[in-house]
Amino acid sequence: MSNLVQVSKNNDIAVITINNPPVNALSPGVPEGISEAIDQINADNSVRAAVVIGSGRTFIAGADIKEFEKITSGQNQRGVGLLPLLLKIEDSRKPVVMAIHGTAFGGGLEVAMAGHYRVASPDGQVGQPEVKLGIIPGAGGTQRLPRLAGVAKAVEMCAGGNPVKAPEAAKIGIIDRVIEGDLLSGAVAFAREIAGKAAPKTRERNEKLGTAEQNQPIFTAARENASKKQRNMMAPQAAIHAVEYATRLPFDQGCEMEARLFKECLFSDQSKALIHVFFGEREVAKVPDIPKETPIIPVNSVAVVGAGTMGGGIAMVFANAGIPVLLKEADQAALDRGLATIQKNYANSVKRGRFTQEYVDQRLKLIKPTLSYDDFGNVDMVVEAVFEGMALKKEVFKELDRVCKQGAILASNTSTLNIDEIAASTSRPQAVIGTHFFSPANVMRLLEIVRGKATGKDVIATCMQLSKKLGKVGVLVGNCRGFVGNRMFHPYRREAQFLVEEGATVEAVDKALYDFGMAMGPLATGDLAGLDVGWRIRKEYRHLEKPGVRQPMAEDRLCEQGRYGQKTGAGWYKYDENRRAIPDPEVERLVRQGAAEANIPQRQISAQEIVDRCIYALVNEGARILEEGFALRSIDIDIIYLNGYGFPAYRGGPMKYADTVGLKKVYEQIQEFHRQHGETWEPAPLLKRLAEESKTFADFNKEKSASA
Ligand code: 3HC
Ligand code: NAI
Repeated sequence: MSNLVQVSKNNDIAVITINNPPVNALSPGVPEGISEAIDQINADNSVRAAVVIGSGRTFIAGADIKEFEKITSGQNQRGVGLLPLLLKIEDSRKPVVMAIHGTAFGGGLEVAMAGHYRVASPDGQVGQPEVKLGIIPGAGGTQRLPRLAGVAKAVEMCAGGNPVKAPEAAKIGIIDRVIEGDLLSGAVAFAREIAGKAAPKTRERNEKLGTAEQNQPIFTAARENASKKQRNMMAPQAAIHAVEYATRLPFDQGCEMEARLFKECLFSDQSKALIHVFFGEREVAKVPDIPKETPIIPVNSVAVVGAGTMGGGIAMVFANAGIPVLLKEADQAALDRGLATIQKNYANSVKRGRFTQEYVDQRLKLIKPTLSYDDFGNVDMVVEAVFEGMALKKEVFKELDRVCKQGAILASNTSTLNIDEIAASTSRPQAVIGTHFFSPANVMRLLEIVRGKATGKDVIATCMQLSKKLGKVGVLVGNCRGFVGNRMFHPYRREAQFLVEEGATVEAVDKALYDFGMAMGPLATGDLAGLDVGWRIRKEYRHLEKPGVRQPMAEDRLCEQGRYGQKTGAGWYKYDENRRAIPDPEVERLVRQGAAEANIPQRQISAQEIVDRCIYALVNEGARILEEGFALRSIDIDIIYLNGYGFPAYRGGPMKYADTVGLKKVYEQIQEFHRQHGETWEPAPLLKRLAEESKTFADFNKEKSASA
């Protein structure tokens, strides 16, 4: 028998143990091993019932996701092929009890549902998360789950993808018993109780399938919900269809329809993109020159300097992770303002039911306000979030160097300044790093971790690990202006403005990108962040602009009119008291007037051109960043865009999107834009090379790791 599955005996009960670390995925060998084990127990007269359990940290966490890439590329002709195994388990003459701890996800839950009974530890979870990978359950999950949990719950789980904890799973019928204490002994005792009794087959249980009248409103509501919350995504809709088939067709035919929908989803670009994201989120945690064994600096207390927009949010992030924070301000009024904002944000979270009052009280106790550096000698890490200005940052870091203990991490939240220059104001540049949180810091998942020339490997490893503890996705980036995210965002938003200046309406630009899948259009995003921020930066760096290169002008004009965006009630749009954006003819007038003065010809612009201009501007800059080494891999750029800029996950990020379109096509279009619009569209040399060699950004990652 395969060494991935073992059979042992506890007197009359067989124990089938799956042993495929780290998560007991159903990789090749595991289904075969389970199948052989079922044969073995049925052939053994001394066995009255069997328990299936996972060794290590979990029951089966699903099909092996790596196999999907092999199936779609033709390397695996066998498919997932679990259906016959599940029928075999269900038809076993000896009853099979599935013993669940950790996560019985996807194919794991499908295996569990083919068992005759399921028991679970209190912390066990069950779920059909396939939609998060752009697919649907492919081994009868959409057919068996409604038979156990009812149609409404099955639709919710298969289309939403969120897991259910064991106690709730027991209430809704997925789990037969929650076992306190040792799971294996409890499962064996349970197996002894049911041995010899008639064993229920899930596929034959039709009592929860409801009637057409009962089910119709469930499916209609689920479809509407999915079209809003999982906009443009095909898998949730397919999952709902598949559950609907369970209510209309006999089990076998339902499984056939499920298999058809599963295959359509699996071969879609959406699924390939979401699988890229699944592995990408894990890959970004790995830094090639920083080994796993790098020592981690314990971070048990921190200080934040500056309690403004970012500092206040960052203090909340640490407090939410249970880490005490000293919050320092320059004067009492600013400190009071900062604390009031923190309290208001927490109060809103209580109102919305996100946190309880008790939780909030505990978190607030962890934040200690101060006006001095007196207690900084004790903290393990400082995050500086004062105004953006090099002179001030240097002054603060000089002071931190004086007061902080050796070994403490000195981090800056700067969004544009040079980390090496900041580090040079201290006697310990190895301790200095950038931790670039995104606004609102307590909400946004992205954390760009900026590596300076001298930053210590232990400091980097600690910040990468800490990001996970803080509930963030930490991505290591290099020290260039705007780092990765904002450096790319600049040409993206610049194109959005150019398009308006060439004749597109503000709403048409935003709508094209929203329909593409962005959480918000680029102009509305500017209004949310504040147009004055970029205006100030542009004024400061105007001397760096190359003469003769086209610059956008509309946003400067808006700012000159005091239209800074939502905070002043007007920017690209007007805003009502509920912050609803209303198109404003005054903006249209201002823009057209500016275009006439600058002799910009006006024309009709298609949604496709809007998308190509904005998204390819991201891609072209991303390619430069990649080649210059400021991002480690193209996936790092993708993960930044998904978590910090509202890029749709089902497109995999800007670089994956370009790979999907084909770099040759992207390059040719950029060449065309270059001819039409001049220097801003100079193609990135890496993009040119990869396009000419018919390669992808993913190939570049492979080239890079092979040469490392
Ligand atoms: N297939 C292949 N590899 C997997 C995997 C899977 N299903 N699940 C996890 N892994 C790998 C991860 O890539 C990671 O590898 P690495 O160490 O080389 O980076 C390693 O296992 C550990 O995973 P995590 O770092 O994510 O560990 P956590 O403890 O944080 O989380 C988990 C564990 C909750 C199980 C999480 O990994 C997870 O959600 N996995 C995916 C579960 C899933 O989507 N299952 C459905 C698969 S599709 C399916 O079953 C189709 C079926 O209907 C036919
Ligand atoms: P802010 O103006 O809201 O807050 C800055 C705070 O620092 C003020 O409250 C000020 O009183 C305080 N301060 C100034 N000098 C101080 C000192 N010596 N000691 C203690 N406190 C002092 O600014 P914001 O927006 O929070 O920005 C802070 C940093 O974060 C900047 O470097 C900015 O570039 C960066 N950033 C800002 C983002 C945003 O969206 N606002 C996003 C990401 C980074």
